[in-house]
Amino acid sequence: VRDNVIMLLTILQNDFVIPEFHEFTHHIKAIFENCRDNREGAPASYIPQLARFDPNYWAVSICTIDGQRFNCGDYHVPFCLQSTSKPLNYAIALTELGCDEVHKSVGYEPSGISFNSIALNDNKRPHNPMVNSGSIIICSLIRRMEHLADRFDYVMQEYKRMAGNEYLGFNNPTFLSERETADRNFALAYYMKENGCFPPGTNLKETLDFYFQLCSVEVNCESAAVIAGTLANGGICPLTGEPVLSPEAVRDTLSLMHSCGMYDYSGQFAFKCGLPAKSGVSGVILLVIPNLMGIALWSPPLDKQGNSCRGIQFCKELVAKFNFHNY
Ligand code: DON
Repeated sequence: VRDNVIMLLTILQNDFVIPEFHEFTHHIKAIFENCRDNREGAPASYIPQLARFDPNYWAVSICTIDGQRFNCGDYHVPFCLQSTSKPLNYAIALTELGCDEVHKSVGYEPSGISFNSIALNDNKRPHNPMVNSGSIIICSLIRRMEHLADRFDYVMQEYKRMAGNEYLGFNNPTFLSERETADRNFALAYYMKENGCFPPGTNLKETLDFYFQLCSVEVNCESAAVIAGTLANGGICPLTGEPVLSPEAVRDTLSLMHSCGMYDYSGQFAFKCGLPAKSGVSGVILLVIPNLMGIALWSPPLDKQGNSCRGIQFCKELVAKFNFHNY
């Protein structure tokens, strides 16, 4: 009841973080339309489940920290989280174990090389939790249950809470294809095992399955925006008011999204857009404007760095229009 009264007062006093939300969304719609004309890039082709996506799909969704929503385009079409699962897994591990414990196993620095390179830092640890090697290690740290099935259930539950109980699914064909074509990830895992990167008792095969499964969790643009909104709101879901992630975990996650979230374009993205973001090969970008809103962008065609072409154009035009750049 108390939450409802507070919400009612917010509405009556128009006391929202973006009071002229309707006008704001007109500008968003205009940028969305500009980006629709972008015909560059192509959907990822390493598995049929990604290659089959219609390159015309394009969606933008917004969820502010006080729960105002805006969606346009193909925002109900499901797609897989892919690498946007990485910051979420990292935030879950941080919330559970704390920063010091997690960073015994993974570094803080951009790698300066491709996301799936077989390379470790000078301490023989993966460079950061946003590249494949680092995320595989993070998956090995989420182990408060003994069985993989329970671990998967637990992480799904946490994603669900971040998404305010909105759409989440699991794409089994993608999981099977990912596993089938994952020679590089297996090589990475064995290289890390050789270098003592995993906690004692880690089951390598199960850990990789867990990593592929979490990449294969489905969202749509609308639910992905709520997840981004939870990150924008210090770990409290803007729709349910539920504290899902610790504020410290969210701060650390956003810091590494800012420096390492956009593959080999991360430095340029930090320079040009100045916002924490994470992209995935399905064509999704989670963009966070801290203390204001989460934005999800989705369009399958990727540029040569692996980021959504329309998504990147949107980020640039958004910052040009509203100056959300941190500096
Ligand atoms: O591990 C892979 O190759 C993919 N499933 C990762 C997906 C992705 O978005 C690329 N990531 N950094």
